[in-house]
This record gives sequence, C-alpha cells and structure tokens, in this order.
Amino acid sequence: MSHLLHKKIILGISGSIAAYKSAYLTRLLIKHGAEVKVIMTESATHFISPLTLSTLSKQPVALEIMDEDTWNNHVELGLWADYFIIAPATANTLSKLADGQSDNMLVATYLSAKCKVMIAPAMDVDMWKHGSTKKNIEKLIAHGDLIIPVEHGELASGLIGEGRMAEPAQIVSYLEDYIIKSLPLNGKSALVTAGPTYEPIDPVRFIGNHSSGKMGISIADELAKRGAFTTLVLGPSSLRPQYKNINIIFVNTAEDMFKAVTSIHKSQDIVVMTAAVADYTPLHVSDQKIKKSDVDWSVQLKRTIDIAASIGKEKQPNQLHIGFALETQNEKSNATQKVIKKNFDFIVLNSLNEPGAGFKHDTNKVSFIFKDNKEKQFELKSKKEVAIDIVDEIELLLP
Ligand code: CTP
Repeated sequence: MSHLLHKKIILGISGSIAAYKSAYLTRLLIKHGAEVKVIMTESATHFISPLTLSTLSKQPVALEIMDEDTWNNHVELGLWADYFIIAPATANTLSKLADGQSDNMLVATYLSAKCKVMIAPAMDVDMWKHGSTKKNIEKLIAHGDLIIPVEHGELASGLIGEGRMAEPAQIVSYLEDYIIKSLPLNGKSALVTAGPTYEPIDPVRFIGNHSSGKMGISIADELAKRGAFTTLVLGPSSLRPQYKNINIIFVNTAEDMFKAVTSIHKSQDIVVMTAAVADYTPLHVSDQKIKKSDVDWSVQLKRTIDIAASIGKEKQPNQLHIGFALETQNEKSNATQKVIKKNFDFIVLNSLNEPGAGFKHDTNKVSFIFKDNKEKQFELKSKKEVAIDIVDEIELLLP
C-alpha cells in the first residue's frame, strides 16, 4: 500500500513533447491508489490524445473552461484536489501561472486551488536558463509552490543540457516523500514484534502456538501509515503488512527474535511487542528425526529469554515500550504486574474470556493498563481499529 492511496490529484498537462510521459505518470498515480483528474491545455492535445488520459484516469479530461454550452467548474475542481501536479509545465504555462492569468482551464484551476501545487517544468536548456523563466520560478516558489527539479540530458531540440522533465517515477516519489514528511510520526522509528515463535524439537517437529500475527501486522501498518520508519520482526506467519516500505525481519525461534530485536532496539523511538514468544524451548534439538517407540516420551524444556523484560532494562526516557498480555484470570492485576516487571509504558490487555477476542479472530476487545494502574477500556473492534487506538495512544505519549 502506498501513501498515495485515496489521494485526490489534479494532473495539469501543458504543450511539451514531455506530455507523452504524462500517460505513464497517470498510470503510476492510479496504480498507487490515487484518484486522478486530468486538465490539458489546447496545445498539450497536439502531443497526446485526451482519450488516452481519460482512459487511464477513468475520468473525463477537462480541456476548456467552456465546452459547447457547458461551463467547467474550475473552482470546484481546485477545491476537490489534495494535490495539484503540473507536468509538464512549459515556459509559457510557467509564465501564466506566475502572472496569475486565467485564460485556460489549467491556469484558472491553479488560481482556484487551495492544495499544494507541484510543478515539473519541461523546456529547452536556453529557455530554462533565461532570466524570465528564473523570475517566474522564483515567483512560484515565493507563492509556496514546489518545483520538481528538471533533469540534465538530451532535449527535443537535440541540445544537451538542463530542462528535461523529471521522470514519472521521480514525480511520484517526490509527491510521496512530501506526503510522508507531513505525517505525524515522520522521523520516528518503530519496531513491532508479531506472530508466534517455533521452537524446534527435531528437523520436523516444533513447539508453537496459535498466534496469527494479525494484530502486530495491523499495528505495523498503522505506524507506517502515519510516517514512522517501521521494522516488523515477524515469527512464522503467512500474513504480510500492506505498506510496502515496512522493513520485515523474518525469524523462527525466540532466540532469533531476541537477536533481531536487540540488534536494532537502541535506535527505536517506539517498540510494540505483540509477538506470542514461546516461554520454553527444548533443551536438546535432535539433528535427526526422532523415531517413535512403544514407551512414552517427554521433552525437557528450558526457559527462553524474556525479550520485553530484557530490552525494558535498557529503555531510555525518549523510548516508548508497549506490551501485550493475554490473560484468563486476575486479568488486571496480572497485566499491571507485567507493566512494571517489563518496564512497559502501557500494556494492551486482551482476555480470552471475551467472545471475538484473541487468536485467529479479526476482532479484539482490549483495555490499556498503565504503570499507575489507570485503565482505558475499548469496545469489541476490528484488529485494524484496535491498531488505530494503540497508535493514537502512542502519539499522545511520545515525548
Ligand atoms: N514477551 C517477550 N518475550 C518473551 C515472552 C513474552 O517479549 N519471552 C512479551 C510479549 O510479546 C508480550 C509480553 O511480553 O508483549 C507479555 O507476554 P506474556 O506471554 O503474556 O507474559 P509472560 O511474562 O510470559 O507471563 P505468563 O506466561 O505468566 O502469562
């Protein structure tokens, strides 16, 4: 999933040979889940057909302020958008934008737009270097618009120099980076442990548990959605996060998980420990498959390291640690003890006694227990909604 999901974008295309790249730009934006409405100047239609753009954007293309007997509402369009990208922006269009002209649909919509405007210029090197263009760019920057840097390379004139429009993929990353920077957890690092651990007995057998990883994966997605640089330490699970920029470290055993967590813990601002870590692991792991016999068999187990308690000892005042507890009796007092023992800022308590809560369900009913014994209770909700509540609380507690 991308940060462009459900974002409303106007793509303004003016008359440059680079207009052919706007088809690919539209396709990329749509692929990232954005809604795109295209506006073209009359001269852009000589380089690329409006039909191509309307097919790719699945929306009619706005061309004129007046079409036959209808008036295209540039004000409404300007207010609809979350972002306005003008790509390619010719020297002529730049000059009209800088001067506040409104003689075509693209520039009129620019004047009505309340959203952030990103301009990707495209022109010949001499036009780009000209004092008038420079002044226009300065005016647009002073107005708060963002200029997507031009590239150096071969131009339509045959000259080599600066003036090529940025590639569509770069325009998309430029927009995505801008969105991420404005998110509340931008600049924060978050670590989430999720899923079960599998403790091997021999090459074919292990001790595991019913954790699916769903709750932790939903939390990792919510943290990434709000801009945190997120690492997911994931035990054996077939589920994956939706945000593509989550860094996943795959582990099997409690020991693997301990190593992965301790290797990056120091640099984390937020740690959420949802993993159902095995408390015991076989003392001896057989190299060969153990053959059955007629007598009963027992496996000797030893304690695993308590990852949460161990990193809890290293916790710095600027770090937040959140734990999970699954209890069947004396729920609140057991959870409070764990908050103190493992040095959590709060623990998310879920009870197996609640219908719809716990392993394998899409829903969960939780309460947050804090160090001072305060409690916040929540209704039965989807795990995605529980993840939102947890990350809301994290935002409140962050120093
Ligand atoms: N946890 C951990 N490492 C372990 C065991 C647990 O990091 N070896 C973390 C879990 O991810 C969870 C919290 O500690 O956030 C509580 O785990 P839980 O298994 O409920 O608690 P235990 O301390 O194991 O207590 P008990 O088995 O008595 O319920």
